[in-house]
Amino acid sequence: MGITNPFKDQSLSLIKRLLPWTLYALLPIVLLRLYFYPLPFPPSPETELPHSTPTTIISQSSLSDSTLPSSPEKEKTYEPPCDYFDGKWIRDRRGPLYNGTTCGTIKEGQNCITHGRPDSSYLYWRWKPSQCNLPRFEPQTFLQLISNKHIAFVGDSMARNQLESLLCMLSTASTPNLVYRNGEDNKFRKWHFPSHNVSVSLYWSPFLVQGVEKSNSGPNHNKLYLDHVDERWARDMDQMDLIVLSIGHWFLHPAVYYEGGSVLGCHYCPGLNYTEIGFYDVLRKGLRTTLNSIIDRRVGKGYGIDVIVTTFSPAHFEGEWDKAGACPKTKPYRNGEKQLEGMDADMRKIEIEEVEDAKTKANNFGGIIRLEALDVTKLALLRPDGHPGPYMYPFPFANGHQERVQNDCVHWCLPGPIDTWNEIFLEMMKKWGQHPRTEE
Ligand SMILES: *[C@@H]1O[C@H](CO)[C@@H](O)[C@H](O)[C@H]1NC(C)=O
Ligand SMILES: *[C@@H]1O[C@H](CO)[C@@H](O)[C@H](O)[C@H]1NC(C)=O
Ligand SMILES: *[C@@H]1O[C@H](CO)[C@@H](O)[C@H](O)[C@H]1NC(C)=O
Repeated sequence: MGITNPFKDQSLSLIKRLLPWTLYALLPIVLLRLYFYPLPFPPSPETELPHSTPTTIISQSSLSDSTLPSSPEKEKTYEPPCDYFDGKWIRDRRGPLYNGTTCGTIKEGQNCITHGRPDSSYLYWRWKPSQCNLPRFEPQTFLQLISNKHIAFVGDSMARNQLESLLCMLSTASTPNLVYRNGEDNKFRKWHFPSHNVSVSLYWSPFLVQGVEKSNSGPNHNKLYLDHVDERWARDMDQMDLIVLSIGHWFLHPAVYYEGGSVLGCHYCPGLNYTEIGFYDVLRKGLRTTLNSIIDRRVGKGYGIDVIVTTFSPAHFEGEWDKAGACPKTKPYRNGEKQLEGMDADMRKIEIEEVEDAKTKANNFGGIIRLEALDVTKLALLRPDGHPGPYMYPFPFANGHQERVQNDCVHWCLPGPIDTWNEIFLEMMKKWGQHPRTEE
């Protein structure tokens, strides 16, 4: 019962209660960091270069401008790899592929336009990687690439947010049928696109490993069993061709952690006689158990699997979560205006490192298991304007301006910036499509 509004349950009350704690917890970490990795003062010559020698930069860009169009064939045969995660948000007149009425699968709290969000300029930006262009999402291409396959989104409400964005965009090309539905608040669902025999499913599993979520009736902390993958999704692994994992925010909750049958420690558990161990190592262990079990279970099966880990998506609360205007920005941050730091940076780093470790492990098995991070943390950090804010509820100011109103500054409006995650996802799939998995 306590989970009918996962957002409220999850992040708002949590941030309210834990923010002071988190700050105190982070301070020693920051100090430790500074001790071991002192800030680079004075700045190194490389970082100064763009400012002190503008002529070099101009000649470089004019060089590439003149060479690129003159050699289109060469471009086609040799494409230098593009870092899609380094770039900036630029204005774009075209706007989104879909709206809240063309797509039947937007969670209420993220359907910002239908809920009366008055500004719309947040819809007119696109992500411009520094070294290349990110093509607009092509639903037909995506469906072709995964025809006869099953993609599973596994994780917390951010996994759901990304899945619904993808479904909305795919629905503009082909209509899916909802073929399975289970659990409170649609936590487990599956759609089928008959046009391409594509299955897309959603599995609620906020820790990926086995866990018991806190509830109003039971304990007010989560229990995590860090050495056991959550069978609610893992038992279906044999039927999956591609898994998108997305977790993070639930790890900030009060929790007791178990490993090897005994208590490893806890996070924010006053009254319980356990050692506080924070959540960073726990996130790492949980991911490692998950990725290892995917590798272990698929090796020797004769057919591979692709795994994508969507990295941590930062929240944008400015001040109190229940004040009108908790995430009031209506424009992205400009490049350099906001740095990736603190918890956002640490969560991302752990996820990237675990994907890299798992890649190394998977390489021992001859390329039948492919893993990649969908590193959205920086793109997401720069979009404080993309959250529902008070429009998580319909027309929050219909009865005049309220002093106190709940805000969602964690999830993303649909349509919205999260559509870009799936544009990059498609580029990753295209790259994978050019080099098919080597099956045993
Ligand atoms: C949503 O999109 C459909 C199809 O493109 C269009 O007919 C409709 O007017 C749009 N609705 C809104 C509210 O923009
Ligand atoms: C449809 O896709 C599933 C995988 O999701 C596959 O097992 C099945 O063989 C496909 N059906 C056809 C007719 O290709
Ligand atoms: C807390 O745990 C320690 C070590 O297990 C034990 O010595 C101590 O008695 C416990 N305290 C309480 C209040 O239970």
